[in-house]
Amino acid sequence: GTLEMFVDELPHMPKINGYTVGVDGTNNPKHLTIGMYQKKWKFHRDIPASNVFVYGTCRDSATFPGPTIEAIKGVTTYITWLNHLPLTHILPWDPTVPTATPTIGGVPTVVHLHGGVHEPASDGSAFAWFTNQFRERGSAWSRRTYTYTNVQHAGNLWYHDHALGLTRENLLAGLLGMYVIRDPALEAPLNLPSGEEFDRHLVIADRSFYSDGSIFMNSTGNVPYIHPQWQPEYFGEVMTVNGKAWPFLAVQRRRYRFRIINVSNARYLNLNFSNGLNFTVIGSDTSYLPAPIVTPTLLLSPAEIFDVIVDFNTTTTNETILQNDAHYPYPNGTAAGPLHQTIMKFSISPNQPITPDNSTIPTTLINYPTSLSPTLTRYITMYEYLTPSNQSTHLSINGLRLEDPATEIPVTGSTELWEVINLTGDDHPLHLHLAMFQATTTVALVDPDVFVACMNVSNDAVACNITGHATGNVTNVPEHEKAWKNVVKIAPMSMTTVIVKFNLVEGDKPYPFDATAKPDYVYHCHINAGTEIH
Ligand code: C2O
Repeated sequence: GTLEMFVDELPHMPKINGYTVGVDGTNNPKHLTIGMYQKKWKFHRDIPASNVFVYGTCRDSATFPGPTIEAIKGVTTYITWLNHLPLTHILPWDPTVPTATPTIGGVPTVVHLHGGVHEPASDGSAFAWFTNQFRERGSAWSRRTYTYTNVQHAGNLWYHDHALGLTRENLLAGLLGMYVIRDPALEAPLNLPSGEEFDRHLVIADRSFYSDGSIFMNSTGNVPYIHPQWQPEYFGEVMTVNGKAWPFLAVQRRRYRFRIINVSNARYLNLNFSNGLNFTVIGSDTSYLPAPIVTPTLLLSPAEIFDVIVDFNTTTTNETILQNDAHYPYPNGTAAGPLHQTIMKFSISPNQPITPDNSTIPTTLINYPTSLSPTLTRYITMYEYLTPSNQSTHLSINGLRLEDPATEIPVTGSTELWEVINLTGDDHPLHLHLAMFQATTTVALVDPDVFVACMNVSNDAVACNITGHATGNVTNVPEHEKAWKNVVKIAPMSMTTVIVKFNLVEGDKPYPFDATAKPDYVYHCHINAGTEIH
């Protein structure tokens, strides 16, 4: 049957402080324990409760998405992540791709703080997985408690599962949550809308359900072409925000700050308001923009975050729908249908605000000191392997798999130029751990077929004369995406220039690593539905 929209109110996720406040008012480090639990979750008034895997300080308080962790810049948060999950997964597993496989049983998990800059041992490597009671552990497992030093800019991060071969399932099941680093001294003077009511997360996820409420995931593949079990991408029919399908929110006629994140596995979102309201973008991922940028549309790849101000006092209408018109896959797939076109509804009070709006949108925000002098250029190629009948079998970066030895060994504190070549038919969200980066321009490839044919043989972009092929239309990255980001969109059949700063936490200061620690960080495409390319 059809589900009625706007029947559930947008929930708040529980908030946990990752610091304590001393009697003298100083902020001190804190140790948190957060568990992963199986429980039932109501995504919609009329969808029976679904089995989910979710994070929480205990089973009762665990939520989809998990609790929002609030950290303070420079104050360390320690988190012990505990796996309380059952022996079997609630979603189908694919044993034929490289996957964390416990011998006794259990659900392998490992937590990655997406956007975090900290020591490798706390990064949540796909090989550092563990099951309930740490009974079984992956080859890179080293500790129960992760240390997040929070030394980077104030900004928006999120934590999510990263277990080898299971990331897509574990995220679909609900193992994700938000994490904010605040810098009170820097942010207070901005006077942005603040507090529980006026500073909110909108965590958008698409899911499909069986009629008994269980989360749908394909257990059959696109045989014989792609894979016996997995589908290349997951597209859900139902749009959820903060764990509710098409929710509503009653708002006052004033400014709100929304931290909007797309946690869908594969669906891009191109957002707009039905009544023409604008987004004033103040930041993206883990940094602010130098100045606010006003835009009527906002394109979010999976894992991408925009921090925006919406002023409901700039409209005369009494409601507005947050809508999506992105094709799936993006940009050349199917047009969003009536279910995916609608995200949520805001009911705008006809009266003047009860709480006086003393917030402002400053003309300038934050400029991070930086010297952009790349020390080297790398060519990174996202590539789809084809069968003789021209069907894709799997994706790779530079022809390699995650299990293969590292090929890029950047120097801590250095800046590099990455020319990222996307030879697939879809846009891909590129994510690097332990780095901040921004895309500048995209150049379309001319004669892409000639280039692909050469790559099929040599797998070497320079030898295949990439600079001779990357001579098509040039597109500049939109102004509101020129922040220090953790995810950038890489358009199909083109080359995108990305400036990458490794381990830089404050201006140009490198993270104080133990030089003997083996830094082992991954970069990958964040379409984690059917496949992860690393
Ligand atoms: Cu958001 Cu390697 O992940």
